[in-house]
Amino acid sequence: MSRVQRLLDAVRKLHEATPELQAYAPWPDDLSDQQVIPRPCPVAQTLGDRKLPGTRATRGVIQALRAATPDLEWRQTYTEAEVGTEFLETYGYVEVFGPSGHFRSRKLRGYIGFWGPGLTYDWHAHEAEELYFTLSGSAVFCARGAPNAMIRPGQARAHTSFQPHLMVTLDQPYLAYAIWRGTGMEGLPAMVAS
Ligand SMILES: [Fe+2]
Repeated sequence: MSRVQRLLDAVRKLHEATPELQAYAPWPDDLSDQQVIPRPCPVAQTLGDRKLPGTRATRGVIQALRAATPDLEWRQTYTEAEVGTEFLETYGYVEVFGPSGHFRSRKLRGYIGFWGPGLTYDWHAHEAEELYFTLSGSAVFCARGAPNAMIRPGQARAHTSFQPHLMVTLDQPYLAYAIWRGTGMEGLPAMVAS
């Protein structure tokens, strides 16, 4: 089994064992292998040195992510003008499954995203509905029309279609499994005015 397949397997185990994830969207039953060229990003190269304690439930995904990192296509879909240099040095994400992920699905999109400590991921929005599930670290989430909340490992936060949201990471790196469902699943987030 490849390291990327092992990562998918660990994500599936977590997803299927977590009622909140399963209730939001069942694990997709249409997954197929897809050719994706590995691509590093600055944060992926430092992942081995990062403390990512997680929880008993999330540790399997964290270990599989560390192991698979050289084989993964790490993405950054913002420009320096949008988010600044520091953000680009300490943020990156992988589409594990979805329309353009390592495994193809038209039913659900699943990412793993990493943000360094003390970062503000400024107001942004996207058409697809989203659920963040924290793997390690904590972040404060703000969303228009919703109370602010600190989301810890094992906790989730949902955003509705086009609901602007913002995230601030605390003193540890923040690692999350995010799923997108519904219309606009193949789209990208865009920065919006606060
Ligand atoms: Fe989002």
